[in-house]
Order: sequence, then C-alpha cells, then structure tokens
Amino acid sequence: MNKSSPIILALDTKDLDTAKSWISATNAAISIYKVGLEFFLKFGAAGIAELASAGDFEIFLDLKLHDIPNTVAGAVSSVAHLKPRFLTVHASGGSEMISAASTAAPAISITAVTILTSLSDGDVAQIGFAKGAKESAINLAKIATQNGARSIVCSPFEASDIRSAVGSTIEIITPGVRPLGGDLGDQKRVMTPHEAIKAGANFLVIGRPISDLAKISLSAMSDGAAEILDSLN
Ligand code: C5P
Repeated sequence: MNKSSPIILALDTKDLDTAKSWISATNAAISIYKVGLEFFLKFGAAGIAELASAGDFEIFLDLKLHDIPNTVAGAVSSVAHLKPRFLTVHASGGSEMISAASTAAPAISITAVTILTSLSDGDVAQIGFAKGAKESAINLAKIATQNGARSIVCSPFEASDIRSAVGSTIEIITPGVRPLGGDLGDQKRVMTPHEAIKAGANFLVIGRPISDLAKISLSAMSDGAAEILDSLN
C-alpha cells in the first residue's frame, strides 16, 4: 500500500470478489477503500473481514448515520470493532448527535457529511435551510468540528472556504473529482484531482474514473490509479 496516497477508492459494487480484485489491482497506489451502504448492507462486517485478505489498507466506512444521539452512538459502537479510519455521519443530525458519535468511538475519525453534492441551492431551500448550499455546508462543517468530528466530506468547490472555517487539523475529503477529459457520469460540478488538493482537500474519493477501467482489464485499472496518483505530484 502507498500510505501517503490521498486517493480513496469507492468500492461501489455488490460483488465481493469484484471488490477484492479492485483492491489487489490498486493497492500499490491506494491505501484507503470506501465501503458504502450498497456493500455494507449486503455483506456487513463479515464482508469487510473478507476484504482484508485482498491487501493492506484502511476502511472508509460510509454509512452516513443520521438519527437521535443515543441511536447513532449505539450504531457507532456496533461498528467500532471494524476500526474504520473514517466513519460518516450527516452533519445535519446536529451538535448532540455528532458529539455522541465522537464520544462512542474516540479512536475513529468521525466524518461529517455537510450538504450532499447532489443537492442544488433550490433543493437546499426547499428542505428549509435559510442559506444556500455553500454557506450551509460551511456552517455545518463548523458545528460538526466543534462537536468532535475530525473530518469533513464536502464538494471540492467548498473545500477552500471550509478549510478557512475549520482550520488546518481537520481532514477534508472531497468526492466529485475527475481527471482531465474524464467521463462526468452523474457528477455535475467536478475538479481534477490536482485542483481539489490545491483547494484544500486532504483526501479524494474516486470511483468510476478508476473502477470503470476494470472493464478493460485489472492492469488498466492498476495503471489508471497510478497515473492519477502521479498527476498529484
Ligand atoms: O464514481 P464517482 O467517482 O462519481 O464516485 C464517487 C463516490 O463518492 C461514490 O461512492 C459516491 O457515492 C460518493 N459521493 C459523492 N458525492 C457525495 C458524497 C459521496 O459522489 N456528496
């Protein structure tokens, strides 16, 4: 594994063997893999244990928890034995919920998701936020980090403002990155990996720009991950 790599590969697949093959193919360039609801609801903790045989890496457990503080604390305790490097909660769950999550597993970096990048300013207004997406994301990042969150997920377009608001010790993680000329898929506003790091991101969540290469071959996937890592230097 490459411990200094800022790339987090999203294991967006329902197939355990596919996930393992992606890890083996990319582990030289990547040391953190994101397991989301699609994988976790199907395979659970046992699935994460199975992945361990595919390489040497840490887990970003993307469960986006959002419930009353007591329930979220219980959920965090239930997955704490998996020792994820990052575990996501929705920042909009509020200060008490974030604090309960952080207290339940002090060794885990509780990672607050601010405003989903799939939401427009119109969506954010419709839900009832008084401010637009960017200002709301900055506000949520402040509340989250004041209550124990040690990392933030946000759009690369919010990264520099959130960096100014939360300081240098908080880790900022951004999805929505595409290499130059990469297929956008359903992502609307994207930055290149290099631009996102320059904007203040510590880590980049990347899915299809790397995982789609497995449709060509696992060695193409391996090369693709290495190329994106090289583009950051
Ligand atoms: O394939 P792609 O690079 O778009 O995948 C990005 C990953 O980041 C997916 O797992 C997606 O669910 C996740 N994500 C995102 N936007 C957010 C939060 C998470 O794209 N706001």
